Amino acid sequence: VPDVRVAPSLLAADFARLAEEVRAVEAAGADWLHLDVMDGHFVPNITFGPQLVGAVKRVATRPLDVHLMIAPADPYLAAFAEAGADLITVHPEASPHLHRTLQAIRALGCRAGVALNPATPISAVKWVLDSIDLILAMTVNPGFGGQAFLEAQLPKIAALRRLIESSGRAIALEVDGGVTAETGRRAREAGADVLVAGTAVFGASDYAAAIAALKAPLTV
Ligand code: DX5
Ligand code: ZN
Repeated sequence: VPDVRVAPSLLAADFARLAEEVRAVEAAGADWLHLDVMDGHFVPNITFGPQLVGAVKRVATRPLDVHLMIAPADPYLAAFAEAGADLITVHPEASPHLHRTLQAIRALGCRAGVALNPATPISAVKWVLDSIDLILAMTVNPGFGGQAFLEAQLPKIAALRRLIESSGRAIALEVDGGVTAETGRRAREAGADVLVAGTAVFGASDYAAAIAALKAPLTV
């Protein structure tokens, strides 16, 4: 089982104290910072754009993991790269020429990821494995924090792990949505090696304890 990394989702942070929140989760053991960009079109919620990503970049020391839930994504890739995204993840439904989009992300100097909605088949990434650094498996329908983890996605996570192993490539497998210490453990057992957690971290009174719980050793 691979080492786990934890990416707190800033969606659940206190936006009025964002710099403090970033420093606090970094001090508490966050490996990456997950930023959920929503446009009110691809998903039924609006969050923030490149300007806020740039503001976070000025205070962050950990990599920025930018999850784009916007359609179209292509016209905004350069703005997010310039704002300081280290990794940019897109949804195939919002990027009809997915291979071209992934090449564009890498050409901007970022790592590239593909996010799969609960109903999106694994085959959506099968022919672009040479162009990606990360697969993000959604375990809720994108748009909101605080939703319940979709248990039916666990066999999909396991199938994605098998796909990655058979490719022989160093592709991270990130799980996003409803991740708690308990569901995170099950996702890790299925093969995930990056856990996004919004509510489970920022809703906790002790961020370090919450992140430590997400990283707890798996027992057999
Ligand atoms: C949902 C976002 C998630 C969300 C996770 O569309 O992609 O990253 O912030 O929040 P929790 O951990 O509360 O489910
Ligand atoms: Zn996300």
